[in-house]
Amino acid sequence: MENFEWSEKYSVNVKQIDEQHKKLIGIVAQLNTAMRQGKGKDIIGKVLEELAKYTITHFKDEERIMKSAGYPDFEAHQTKHQWMNDRVAQLYRDYQDGKVTLSIEVMNFLQSWIDKHIMGTDKQYAPFLNSKGIF
Ligand SMILES: [Fe+2]
Ligand SMILES: [Fe+2]
Repeated sequence: MENFEWSEKYSVNVKQIDEQHKKLIGIVAQLNTAMRQGKGKDIIGKVLEELAKYTITHFKDEERIMKSAGYPDFEAHQTKHQWMNDRVAQLYRDYQDGKVTLSIEVMNFLQSWIDKHIMGTDKQYAPFLNSKGIF
């Protein structure tokens, strides 16, 4: 399991969004670090709760920026956010019900979704937002 951290490769060239992605990656990185130290079980509840709240905040802000700029692919992007919000909320509920145990699979799912979404989906709006003067 590799270290998970923000780096320039994730930049979408919009300052507020980069800051939020740093925070999002940081939340999951906490869990990654704790797991490597054998302490994942101590913080998984807190991390999932924080993640469930913060994905909602970040997606709302990102959607507001895309929408007010008139980004043409807004709806498809929003659908991906809703899917992830549902997944994370479900994961947190399952954890609370004792149905989820912390595993490499959960960790890999969270990391690879964030990685793919930022690199593949978020990066698509970067040139459009920049062309509207949003940096
Ligand atoms: Fe997004
Ligand atoms: Fe994003």
